[in-house]
Amino acid sequence: MSRTWVRRLAKIGGYGILALLALAALAITFTVGWRPLIGAKKRPLTARKFESTPERMRRGEYLVHAVMHCMGCHSKYDEKANPPVLLSTEGVGDVFFDAGSFRIVAPNITPDPETGIGNWSDDAIARAIREGIAADGSALFPVMPYEHFRHLSDEDLASIVVFLRSLPPVHNQLPPAKIPLLFARLIQAAPQPLTEPVAEPDISTPAKRGAYLAEMGTCTDCHTPLNPKFQPIAGMEMAGGNSIADESGRVLANSANLTPDASGIGYYDEALFIQTMRTGAVRARKLNGAMPWWVFRNMTDDDLKAVFAYLRTLKPVHHPVDNTEPPTQCKLCGQKHGMGDRN
Ligand code: HEC
Ligand code: HEC
Repeated sequence: MSRTWVRRLAKIGGYGILALLALAALAITFTVGWRPLIGAKKRPLTARKFESTPERMRRGEYLVHAVMHCMGCHSKYDEKANPPVLLSTEGVGDVFFDAGSFRIVAPNITPDPETGIGNWSDDAIARAIREGIAADGSALFPVMPYEHFRHLSDEDLASIVVFLRSLPPVHNQLPPAKIPLLFARLIQAAPQPLTEPVAEPDISTPAKRGAYLAEMGTCTDCHTPLNPKFQPIAGMEMAGGNSIADESGRVLANSANLTPDASGIGYYDEALFIQTMRTGAVRARKLNGAMPWWVFRNMTDDDLKAVFAYLRTLKPVHHPVDNTEPPTQCKLCGQKHGMGDRN
């Protein structure tokens, strides 16, 4: 699953990857302003410490392993297998994308003091996860989904930090990231500091609880099609179609339409949704491993039901996407996918 974000970029339009990433950085931030020159907006670190409790350990492990798929990026996987097979200890990091002069690395997030985050303070880890600030105060590349994670509640954040600290420290020196100067500058505009506490999410209805889980699971990153300027296409939230490609640019699958339309998953019931997320197959049809069902399968029944309840609140969008058909150009999402020419 790890490099899909960049792979997807590489596939959209006929642009070079560099131009695309520049656009992405711009789209994420709307107005770039002076940040590229004066550095990322950030708040000072505090001395707060997150006490380890059994509840936090359990919750942190659950969020990391079942919902937020941290390890899909921060560990090494054989992605040719379906589901992908873990090849390293969890959290030791991996090269995320490598095009020679441009390399993005998902760092070692085990508590190793030299090559991991063993010497980071609790608040520095917290700030990296929710606000996108690296150890040296610069912006993290926004493939690290801090734009979604900023909605993580304070207590859930504490739980994740407590869990990361409990991982066995592994010394794993990764090759250095190489971010071309233009991008290194542009992404400085992405981080937005959080100066107020983030309260517990509203989980008063299953749909609201599901919305929080879907945010943390970054479903929209893959399931909402983007226009050439990398903004979500208005009116097509979760309507699918994005090409998810491997590091060579070969498309593995296009994301599915998750809206309750007949061309989406309108025919699903709760039981079929749970079965799909648990088994990676819609009845007899196997899903590609590019869909991280192999992470989400670890969610509880109640949480999967909540995600389903949330998906049911989406506006139905007519947009057939069928990975069993040959790809054709789609004028709705701008991608090539099965049944694209019917749209
Ligand atoms: C889609 C891939 C992806 C996911 C999912 C992801 N990360 Fe990251 N993360 C990255 C990349 C890539 C970087 C480095 C960005 C850079 O170098 O600018 C990063 C950076 C970090 C850093 C800063 C480490 C350092 O040494 O600078 C921390 C801490 C971190 N991630 C923790 C997490 C946690 C915890 C989760 C889950 C809650 C998570 N990440 C989910 C890709 C990801
Ligand atoms: C890294 C990209 C990615 C993320 C993140 C992602 N998906 Fe998917 N998803 C896909 C792709 C690609 C497919 C199509 C797979 C195929 O047809 O083989 C898919 C297919 C599905 C399907 C099957 C639909 C069908 O009947 O064909 C469901 C259900 C689904 N995703 C739900 C979710 C939910 C819920 C989330 C968030 C919790 C999510 N996905 C996050 C990429 C992603």
